[in-house]
Amino acid sequence: MEANTNEVAATGYDRKTELKAFDDTKEGVKGLVDAGIIEIPRIFHHPPDQYNISYSEEAQFSIPVIDLGGLSDPTKQKEIVAKVGEASETWGFFQIINHGIPVDVLEEIKNGVRRFYEQDTEVKKQFYCRDDFSRRWQYNSNFDLYSSSSTNWRDTFQCYMAPTATNREDMPEVCRDEIAEYSKELMKLGKILFELLSEALGLEPSHLNDIGCGEGLMVLGHYYPACPQPELTLGTSKHADGGFLTVLLQDHIGGLQVLHQNKWIDVPPVTGALVVNIGDLLQLISNDRFKSVEHRVLANRRGPRISVASFFCTGMLPSTKIYGPIKELLSEDNPPKYRETTVSDYVAHVEQKGLNGKSALSDVKL
Ligand code: OGA
Ligand code: NI
Repeated sequence: MEANTNEVAATGYDRKTELKAFDDTKEGVKGLVDAGIIEIPRIFHHPPDQYNISYSEEAQFSIPVIDLGGLSDPTKQKEIVAKVGEASETWGFFQIINHGIPVDVLEEIKNGVRRFYEQDTEVKKQFYCRDDFSRRWQYNSNFDLYSSSSTNWRDTFQCYMAPTATNREDMPEVCRDEIAEYSKELMKLGKILFELLSEALGLEPSHLNDIGCGEGLMVLGHYYPACPQPELTLGTSKHADGGFLTVLLQDHIGGLQVLHQNKWIDVPPVTGALVVNIGDLLQLISNDRFKSVEHRVLANRRGPRISVASFFCTGMLPSTKIYGPIKELLSEDNPPKYRETTVSDYVAHVEQKGLNGKSALSDVKL
């Protein structure tokens, strides 16, 4: 009660009550757009951002696009490892083409995500839930709705696909086959990416796979409805990803930006490409060699924008396995910068902090 009074004092309105009313509709942001609103509710208003925008036409700033074709050729393979290493150290982000996932699998998963959101509202509502960890499929709007200071213009579902996949019958009919197929391809791609990243760190190619970085997979389907006042809000607030590695499939709309040297840089949609970014746990075990970089998604008058973010992370499993800076990378000149943690403890901490906060990594710094 007291917290609520404070909230009213801070924001000038009863934010908690408005959030609850929005949550209770179980229709997410899409429900507002379907109802024909022309002004976005104030829960979605974000404070102005403190960083400059840099446009990707500036040639010195653009996310590397790495061609993974030719991995079986040892000379090309070495070049690819070097590019992956360089991008992971400087940008924390890169795009990949010729990654081996067939174009139709990418198209089908995007269509599947769209079908999920655009299906009959009453059917979709049955999947709406929050913090019910017994459910392996969760759909809601803003996982951090009640803890973050501004709400994002986005609806999301999430499901666990590895090490054990969500049961077929627990997944929505309109997209379960597409998600299963895409996840199968992603697990293969993940193995390759972790081999390249291991080599880029100067480790045995199998190192990151051997310690389980590619074991867990959580797939998120994001839906960013067209927004009538995009300058007042964001699709996704500034954040860094908590897991080991993220592979993102975005459609043609655009809006993803990476914070690089204190400027927001666009990650332009490239047909057939996937965006790869280093997560906090990979920064931790690489002892800061690889960077988990903050990023955000702008809201847009055009929409919906669809993206599929897949996190290599075992955070959903209760685990006792301990991760700290990899011993082989440490020396007298490079002492460990982080204390050891389990994936589940770390991920629980990231989730509890929500988006738009200080990086959770600083809390495990030595
Ligand atoms: C995420 C994310 C970006 C996007 O899910 O962590 O950053 O383009 N998504 O949806
Ligand atoms: Ni992210």
